[in-house]
Amino acid sequence: MSRIDTLMGKMTLAEKLGQLTMAASSYTVTGPIIAGDSTDAIKAGTIGNLLNMVGAAHVRQMQRLAVEESRLGIPLLIGLDIVHGHRILFPVPLGEASLFDPETWALTARESAMEAAAEGLAMTFAPMLDVARDPRWGRSAEGPGEDPWLGARIAEAKVRGFQGADLAAADALAAVAKHYCAYGAVTAGRDYASVDISARTLREVHMPAFEAAVAAGVAAVMPAFTDLAGIPMTANKELLRGWLRGRWGFKGVIVSDYNAIAELINHGIAADLAEAAAHALNAGVDIDMMADAYRHGLPIALERGLVAMAQIDESVRRVLTLKEQLGLFDHPYRRGTTPESNATLTQRRRLARAVGARAIVMLKNDKETLPLPASLRRLAVIGPLADAPAEMRGPWWGAADTEGHVSVLSGLRAMLPHSQVLYVPGVAIESEDVSGIAAAVDLCATVDAIVLCVGEAAVMSGEAASRAHLDLPGKQREFAEAVLERARASAKPVIAILFSGRPLVVPWLVESADAVLAAWFLGSEAGNSISDVLTGRVSPSGRTPVTWARAEGQIPIFFGERPSGRPANPKDHFTSKYLDVANEPLFPFGHGLTYGLFVYSNLRVTPADVEDIDTIQIRVDVRNVGARAAQETVFLFTHDKLASVARPLLELKGFTKIDLRPGETGSVSLSLPATELRFLGPELEPVFEPGEVEILVGPCADRSRLLVGTIRLSWSRPC
Ligand code: NOJ
Repeated sequence: MSRIDTLMGKMTLAEKLGQLTMAASSYTVTGPIIAGDSTDAIKAGTIGNLLNMVGAAHVRQMQRLAVEESRLGIPLLIGLDIVHGHRILFPVPLGEASLFDPETWALTARESAMEAAAEGLAMTFAPMLDVARDPRWGRSAEGPGEDPWLGARIAEAKVRGFQGADLAAADALAAVAKHYCAYGAVTAGRDYASVDISARTLREVHMPAFEAAVAAGVAAVMPAFTDLAGIPMTANKELLRGWLRGRWGFKGVIVSDYNAIAELINHGIAADLAEAAAHALNAGVDIDMMADAYRHGLPIALERGLVAMAQIDESVRRVLTLKEQLGLFDHPYRRGTTPESNATLTQRRRLARAVGARAIVMLKNDKETLPLPASLRRLAVIGPLADAPAEMRGPWWGAADTEGHVSVLSGLRAMLPHSQVLYVPGVAIESEDVSGIAAAVDLCATVDAIVLCVGEAAVMSGEAASRAHLDLPGKQREFAEAVLERARASAKPVIAILFSGRPLVVPWLVESADAVLAAWFLGSEAGNSISDVLTGRVSPSGRTPVTWARAEGQIPIFFGERPSGRPANPKDHFTSKYLDVANEPLFPFGHGLTYGLFVYSNLRVTPADVEDIDTIQIRVDVRNVGARAAQETVFLFTHDKLASVARPLLELKGFTKIDLRPGETGSVSLSLPATELRFLGPELEPVFEPGEVEILVGPCADRSRLLVGTIRLSWSRPC
């Protein structure tokens, strides 16, 4: 008999429900309900999983209670959100998406897993895979951006990185793909609000990243807090049992979000905790995080006949199986026994610095303002985010302390020891006080260049951080405008560094500053990463994974829009446009300047006649006509112009990178299996339709900048 069968035979109902319960330890608070002391319950075997605990000693102490003092000695599964690093932080996920580099996406997850596992943790509630096309939603910061294909690539890379080759390894974490599904489509971008989208949008936009995570072997999935057209995801049988388990064959654990089962009462589909618990269990949720609905509600639900014992057993078996796969039964203390060496930590910091620099998106660089000239003698580094090391962590900092992160000021001072780097904050982000503006403006007249560090406070994005106004918060606009005016009058260049967990809506700033960098929140090494780019030590290469709006009224805005029957035409009143703002975004998806300048030519697409079994080969020449070496990211899009269903104007299907010295030409290749051109037909089933498809290649999702080729699709044999 297997270990799990033997255990199942011995477990009481209370012990079984313990395995289906995850309670918070008091280290960090990530939700509204704070559990009391779990010690006695762990010893009694009635709490089997924990979250929000850090520190190897603490973790070990709790694990010891379960393994050595509970009747059956079943180890705890201990998890934490490790969204972009544990103690050493990498860029927030939206920033890291800007790298368009699957190997690095996997590597930072691997490093985060190693760091967290070295403290005894075995599960991370990551990656967050919610496609977000509405930057009002603060959780955009945690996710892959606006594109489903990109989301799927990030999903695969992150699962591979967190879990490694073997879940039982001492440095592997069980990943949790979250939040299934369509959480990013909350009404009006307001966190936790209702989601009501078409079945097609659900399938085409919000599900692919989760399907990719499942195909990559993700250990667990977390349903979203939200409802989908009236059915809360925590109780959504069709999407959990039907799609996730049924169609995609997911065999892992489904762990609820924080208190989400009890919140089924607020959603208005459960009268009490017993009904809520029954809904969730029936839909396939195995672990109840923080609602304590399973321990208190399921016994009553059993009595009322709302659930069957077999369903409880099925979930318990899945949880025990995951614990076994993680090696927790055989080696409960394997994780957390060997602290990492200082050399490892130094190496990781180096990686964070390099990744941070590559996540920066240079939105504008007029007259080659950047990199800063070596002759620079006096530099003003001003603004509320210029010397704000703790803010650099972004909205989610795992176990990272407030200390030990690098601000822009200290990064620049270290990089420019022979220049005078002068600092004044000007204003605070969340204050109405404008008395500091004058000093900042005065300073500007005395320097060679101004680095203006503005944006959101870290906590203005992330969970429960929706914003209706996406301009600079507080008095920063007044401050920045005063600085820009003085700088213009004295012909001093202004480089704006924008910190945010989302694309902000700042056309006025982009218009007036000489250079603008989107620095997201870059993590522990932020100031060094930014200094590397400012000084030219690193040539910027990040590309935005989200469209930047020029007005909040354009939101939601994304490149994968479908064609209109009345496409915008300035000469025709009755066409699809605004009266008061252009349709075009401020910056399209994929935009990002480098210190080089690239020209595309000679697009070759073969074969021209493509059968469903073929792979399309795409080649294009890229020449660096700029004065500096740089890396170009080349995007591949398709457009199916005539199909049974209106297809998006552009669909992302690939990207690649090329490094070129000044004057150098290189050619890049991309391949696209024809099967990738399938889409969901009128009945929402995949179809492959013969006909013409455009292949578009270039630097971003601005059609006017793409080279276009055409292929003709046909079946390899008549059907
Ligand atoms: C709530 C968040 O929605 C989820 O992403 C997170 O994993 C849990 N809290 C646990 O902290």
